[in-house]
Amino acid sequence: MAADTTAPATVTATAARHESAHLHVSGGARYCDDIPLPADTLHAVFGVSDCAHGRLDALDLEAVRAAPGVAAVITAGDIPGDNNYGGVVKDDPLLVEAEIGYAGQPLFAVAATSYRQARRAAALARPSVTPLPAILGIREAIAAESFVAPTRRLTRGQPEAAMAAAPNRLAGSVSIGGQDHFYLEGQIAAALPQEDGGMLVYSSTQHPSEVQHIVAHALGVASHDVVVQCRRMGGGFGGKESQPALLAAVAAVLARRTGRPVKLRLDRDADMIMTGKRHDFLADYEVGFDDDGRMSGLAIMLASRCGYSADLSLPVNDRAVCHLDNAYFLEHVAIVSHRCRTHTVSNTAFRGFGGPQGMMVIERILDDIARHLGHDPRDVRRANLYGSDGTRDTTPYGQTVEDNVLPRLFDELEATSEYRARRRAAADWNAANPVIKRGLAMTPVKFGISFTATHYNQAGALINIYRDGSVLLNHGGTEMGQGLYTKVAQIVARELGLPLSAIRASTTDTSKIPNTSATAASSGSDLNGMAAAIAARELRERLREHACEHYDACAHEVRFADGRVHIGGRSVSFAELCESAYTARVSLSATGFYRTPKIDWDKNSFTGRPFYYFAYGTAVAEVAIDTLSGETRLLRADILHDVGSSLNPHLDVGQIEGGFLQGVGWLTSEELCWDEAGRLRTHAPSTYKIPTARDWPADTRIRLLADAANREETIYRSKAVGEPPFMLAIAVFHAIRDAAAACGPAGCLPPLRAPATPEAVLDAVEAVRTDPA
Ligand code: MTE
Ligand code: MOS
Repeated sequence: MAADTTAPATVTATAARHESAHLHVSGGARYCDDIPLPADTLHAVFGVSDCAHGRLDALDLEAVRAAPGVAAVITAGDIPGDNNYGGVVKDDPLLVEAEIGYAGQPLFAVAATSYRQARRAAALARPSVTPLPAILGIREAIAAESFVAPTRRLTRGQPEAAMAAAPNRLAGSVSIGGQDHFYLEGQIAAALPQEDGGMLVYSSTQHPSEVQHIVAHALGVASHDVVVQCRRMGGGFGGKESQPALLAAVAAVLARRTGRPVKLRLDRDADMIMTGKRHDFLADYEVGFDDDGRMSGLAIMLASRCGYSADLSLPVNDRAVCHLDNAYFLEHVAIVSHRCRTHTVSNTAFRGFGGPQGMMVIERILDDIARHLGHDPRDVRRANLYGSDGTRDTTPYGQTVEDNVLPRLFDELEATSEYRARRRAAADWNAANPVIKRGLAMTPVKFGISFTATHYNQAGALINIYRDGSVLLNHGGTEMGQGLYTKVAQIVARELGLPLSAIRASTTDTSKIPNTSATAASSGSDLNGMAAAIAARELRERLREHACEHYDACAHEVRFADGRVHIGGRSVSFAELCESAYTARVSLSATGFYRTPKIDWDKNSFTGRPFYYFAYGTAVAEVAIDTLSGETRLLRADILHDVGSSLNPHLDVGQIEGGFLQGVGWLTSEELCWDEAGRLRTHAPSTYKIPTARDWPADTRIRLLADAANREETIYRSKAVGEPPFMLAIAVFHAIRDAAAACGPAGCLPPLRAPATPEAVLDAVEAVRTDPA
């Protein structure tokens, strides 16, 4: 069914505010912890291991059971069904059975009358553990061949021969840190036993269907016995894709055991210690290139720290491999991908899903090439971009880059950011100032949109229209602040010719939309928006048909606009037509189902078309570094980003701002430290520094690329925006590196590691000062 071209397109393109903005600012928005629960609700806490790797010989819980207020204590043996929450590989126990895999891993759970009582009781456990040797770091894991899955390789062309023939060669290593999600609302679930074996679960989750599935398996019941609901999250960022199932399943087991509702929430320290993070990566590279810096051959060893289990590490690392090219044509390339098993918390999805780490590697290589040759890195990047003329346009995995706006983005932003003039000004500044050094960088983003797990690219929606013409919208996507509910409501309003206020977005609920995918991979509005549009069009056609019969008109005479239905020369309110359709026994409820077309991916051979399309962006960052303290400041950021035809420019700019600054945090201030025993030492805001409003550059110029309708038939030709802007922050890291290079001789390659904390900046500055080129 085609879109009703008579519906005013401006309804969607308006900058409608976030559907919950008034609730966010007034305290009226209910998060999971705010949902009123029955008076007999219990509060649960995990008891965790403090050893990184060991054998659990015995677990003495006498004192825990005897503590005041305790209603139930469970260990692995008390789980009636599957003791597992691994979504991809079944290697994630809810509670440890025998082998402890990381410091902070749950050994048991206790439910008590109050949260405080549960915490006090949990501290009384006496585990007997035989420590085993722990592998903590990536290099150690590679040496020990400790992997969560066999190593994978992607090769195209003859990289060795191309490198051998190249006039220039370089080799180097890149180190990229991890990141804690630091959503403001921590992980939480509440389980409420229902009659006849049913279980209702409130979960702060990006993936309600997976929570439902894992709760059902843990309880040993069928999926139809479990309902999972999520109205909103206080941030997810990928951290609530696989992790929420652990809390939900353990709360459900405790609820089943006690027959009482159980709430399980992690405080900040427990959340940071117990839940997976962004993977840190190491890469070793060798590259051959010509005198303009064009790469001819490239060989890369990519390795990430996955932690003790697989979790989402396989798709995360595959996405890193598929984004190693970023925006550049790699004719001859070999990538080796090691997924290292370590005795640390199992790393998981985080905005960009491995893409940012892959892109950091190629951006570093290009930076090295440019510095080695004495060219502006911007020009070397430009020379390596995918071609827009039908050549040099296939990715290493064989997908053609069809909608390439990269050269346009690069040239437009170079002009509007006054890159050349500012580059000269920075050089002048650096010549005159020995302590404060300035740096600039311009980097592109190309990000593939679709889940690489092809079957995830589907979505459902259910729309109910009531007799008064009001519309209740359900879809399988979840709201985590990104504005998905607003965008989908705008789409339904447009299809039905209604004001946005006529649409109410309802809680995501597994009993309304079954078998949904995680709201992830930035595909929420692409998938759910299209499913909802399909449902709305179905209802519109039923109403149109009814109008034709009732008012004796032809289909083309019926038009839905401004909350009214125009039928020939007559006009009735939408509500009046709904009442009349109801009376005539027309169904006012419809489902919509959508699956992404064209994609086709063989993940074993790394070939095919994993992505429906690409989203693009470019950033120019200018920084100053203090070479005495290592402190950095972002002076100015210019961003030009491609969201296709925007569904909502305000929400899209909000995503660009938030994504960019979250990326800046990843690459500058957020540093995770584990001690020699494998214990995370940075588990609170006192030791882990996320960016704040103060870190926002005074001069920020964000623009959406104009006239950029998606060439694919996405919802109203829009593009996904959730993750791609995160990677714009790579410009900030390279601007810092540029400033550090100004401290050394021409051609020096500052060994700046990420995050570029003050210590890392000082190390890099020191290195180029004492070890010329
Ligand atoms: N924006 C906010 N405010 N909060 C979030 O948790 N998560 C990001 C991004 N933007 C997130 C966010 C991540 S990791 C993804 S995959 C997308 O939103 C998911 O939503 P979408 O598919 O609707 O864009
Ligand atoms: Mo986003 S990392 O795909 O949840």
